[in-house]
Amino acid sequence: MNSSARFFTHQIMRVLFVCLGNICRSPMAEGIFNHILKQNDLMLKAYCDSAGVAKYHIGNEPDERAIKTCKKHGIVLNHKARVITTSDYHTFDWIVAMDRSVFHEIKRKAPDEHQAKMVLMREYDDKPENYDVPDPYYGTMRNFEMVYDILMVCCTNFVKQYLQPQL
Ligand code: 4NP
Repeated sequence: MNSSARFFTHQIMRVLFVCLGNICRSPMAEGIFNHILKQNDLMLKAYCDSAGVAKYHIGNEPDERAIKTCKKHGIVLNHKARVITTSDYHTFDWIVAMDRSVFHEIKRKAPDEHQAKMVLMREYDDKPENYDVPDPYYGTMRNFEMVYDILMVCCTNFVKQYLQPQL
């Protein structure tokens, strides 16, 4: 890595979104977060990725309904499902869990020493009725739309809080 690359990697905020299967909520969060970064010229300020805690869907594209919902809002999802690794806890500054059960799992899996801050996505919601982004996997397109709306609010507030207060 040359010195300018090192400069950028040290400046950049790295965010990992995590759900259960990494085919619905967290790849949608990744797509939405990237969309907000692009729209606000923040691509050199932050980097994001997503992962799951379960192995069922490793290597799979996001769920068709997640792809369709995001596409409707002008967001293209480009991700292959993977499981969170030990090195993620060292690579990312923030690990953002989609619900409380995933949050407990990422805490349980965390190595003894790491710098990552683990938070719940809905800590960034305006008025959450609870702290879970509801799992839409066994739901309908309407559930995916609801998830999209929640994630858009939370990602926008996250960017406002840490990257661009005037957003
Ligand atoms: P995600 O949704 O955690 O938002 O990706 C799910 C995807 C798959 C399953 C459950 C939730 N599953 O049971 O296979």
